[in-house]
Amino acid sequence: MAAQVLVLASILVFSCFADICYGAISFSSLHRTLVVTASHRQGLLMGGEDKITVTWGLNQSFQAGTDSNYRTIKVQLCYAPNSQVDRAWRKTEDHLSKDKTCQFKIVEKPYANTNETLEWTIERDVPTATFFVRAYALDEHDHEVAYGQNTDAEKTTNLFDIEAITGRHASLDIASVCFSAFSIVSLIGFFFAEKRKGRKAQQ
Ligand SMILES: *[C@@H]1O[C@H](CO)[C@@H](O)[C@H](O)[C@H]1NC(C)=O
Ligand SMILES: *[C@@H]1O[C@H](CO)[C@@H](O)[C@H](O)[C@H]1NC(C)=O
Repeated sequence: MAAQVLVLASILVFSCFADICYGAISFSSLHRTLVVTASHRQGLLMGGEDKITVTWGLNQSFQAGTDSNYRTIKVQLCYAPNSQVDRAWRKTEDHLSKDKTCQFKIVEKPYANTNETLEWTIERDVPTATFFVRAYALDEHDHEVAYGQNTDAEKTTNLFDIEAITGRHASLDIASVCFSAFSIVSLIGFFFAEKRKGRKAQQ
């Protein structure tokens, strides 16, 4: 018993240390050194069809060498505040390992000290919601060291809406589930009705 408690305690302590050493990068500690833009057609964008052109690069008002520890750039599609309301699974947390704002990878590639552009077709698994684009610069340990986004700090500007391609199919699925449930219930009802009829006939 004591041994188990000890093991548990050491695991706890160890994971706390691990957290401090590796996991606990807070978003608020990152400098916004990257300039990110996202361009797309006007109006509601369709998942699986429409494209978003993302550009990123170092903000030239930061001094040369600011990006000396940038190794990788990770560009993501992120939920805007109005699509996070009442959805704990999309919640923004300052602690980046727990943050669920950015769940869709647009690209991850080696960092280059130049402006880069990528045309990305919205993937089919993106749900219907409002989004923005954020890029993180990662160091050699894959830890976030800086970021940039196509919106302001409050995430109110340049947001865009995506409609999931699966929206239509999802409602069809719901209809067919309801229909199957209805069939099962009727079958059971039919079965009992027949049984009762049988019993009545016996009497
Ligand atoms: C570049 O950084 C400066 C200083 O932080 C900031 O005032 C400026 O708005 C940034 N430029 C862009 C295009 O984000
Ligand atoms: C990237 O683009 C910005 C604005 O379009 C420009 O001011 C800057 O010089 C460019 N940076 C590089 C490294 O080309």
